[in-house]
Amino acid sequence: MSIWSGDSLRTCFSFVVLAFFLTFVFVTGVLQEIKKNGAFNQKIDFPDFGHYNGNFIKNIPNSVLPIDDRGKRIIAIGDIHGMNGSLTDLLDEIHYDSKRDSLIHVGDLETRATIHDSIDVLSFMSSNRILGVRGNNDQKVIEWRAWMNWILSHPGGQEWLSVMDTRWPHLDGDKRLQRAELESWVETSKYASWKKMVPTGWYPLGKHYRVARAMSPGLFEYLSSLPLVLHSPTGHMVFVHAGLLSSHPKLQASDPRQPLSHWPTVDDQHDIAKLRNQQELAVLTEIPENKDPWTVTNIKNVMDKGIVSPSPRKGTPWSQLWNDTMSKCSGNSGTNGGKAYQPTSLPCYPFTVVYGHAAGRGLDIKRWSIGLDTGCSYGRRLSAVVLDSSTYQFGNSIHARASQSQEIDFGDNGQARVVSVSCA
Ligand SMILES: *[C@@H]1O[C@H](CO)[C@@H](O)[C@H](O)[C@H]1NC(C)=O
Ligand SMILES: *[C@@H]1O[C@H](CO)[C@@H](O)[C@H](O)[C@H]1NC(C)=O
Repeated sequence: MSIWSGDSLRTCFSFVVLAFFLTFVFVTGVLQEIKKNGAFNQKIDFPDFGHYNGNFIKNIPNSVLPIDDRGKRIIAIGDIHGMNGSLTDLLDEIHYDSKRDSLIHVGDLETRATIHDSIDVLSFMSSNRILGVRGNNDQKVIEWRAWMNWILSHPGGQEWLSVMDTRWPHLDGDKRLQRAELESWVETSKYASWKKMVPTGWYPLGKHYRVARAMSPGLFEYLSSLPLVLHSPTGHMVFVHAGLLSSHPKLQASDPRQPLSHWPTVDDQHDIAKLRNQQELAVLTEIPENKDPWTVTNIKNVMDKGIVSPSPRKGTPWSQLWNDTMSKCSGNSGTNGGKAYQPTSLPCYPFTVVYGHAAGRGLDIKRWSIGLDTGCSYGRRLSAVVLDSSTYQFGNSIHARASQSQEIDFGDNGQARVVSVSCA
């Protein structure tokens, strides 16, 4: 009997049909899966453009920021936004001397003035190795530059970026209409395939892009070396761009999970310096919001439910909450172990935050927080605080236009002077 009998032919045919059917199901399934994962749209696996490098908090040793050295001054300066001329005015006004003074900026060095001015401010900071923290604008510049370096690592990337520079020298990618013009050009040009290399919500040729493009590798390195928070344990001071929380916003002040509801454990509970340092670090590292890069560079308010907000319209300014908490810190004068402390009095020592970002609020001086963004880029003022003004001498020659200054209490028992110049 031939093996190709009617029966076996039928069996064979059924197998073939079944095989086809299964293959069809499998292939469609896989295709759908691929489509869903965007492999057909070539979904890009973007590298990390954030460049935080684990650089969240930097400690400023006393040798760098000599709090107790009466011969030295510490000067913190507010949001400069590329206002190079105003920076020069302010430094003149306070008789800044790089040998004697330690300068610290609170971020947002660039992008509201011209590209050249922004680059000059960055160059000044970088070449003098000025300490400072990252602002939300600095972060955008860092991200664009990291993106550019990544594009340049692809064959043809350099050509694409250069063609955009040459073809659109004045286009502002931050403006919706101009951005649309750029997009439709990319889509119809021979560079259409590069469009997918731009992350969603990113638009080339805006101000941050232009500064990122104009920076030397050294300036990029300087900007990426800036931490989010600078902590001076000897000065009991913290520098941050937008803000920090003094407590978990969703827990009671007396909750044991609050860093300031109890003394930390250190080898020697009488070592006040150590206790304070540990407690300050606990606030910076144990409150989740304080470890979130977006929060510390954008926060303005805290809403009723404990949610942080970048808008000043609803809720309470974080600086108000900070000052409220710090004003309850009663040092170690209370009874031992923190048990006897009432919610109106916490077992902690207060410490000070110096920050910028809130231009809408202007100069915002509270006992335990110093807000320095006075809207220079909006034609208002550029401000600095000179810490420990016992050594602060006003020259008789005041060069800057409409300079103003005021004395404030600062830290445990120091004095400081806030100085500002007009940016108009
Ligand atoms: C920025 O300021 C410095 C110092 O005053 C000055 O030398 C430089 O020319 C300024 N840059 C621009 C673009 O005006
Ligand atoms: C900040 O706290 C101090 C007490 O440490 C208090 O006297 C002051 O009124 C507070 N300031 C504001 C603006 O709440």
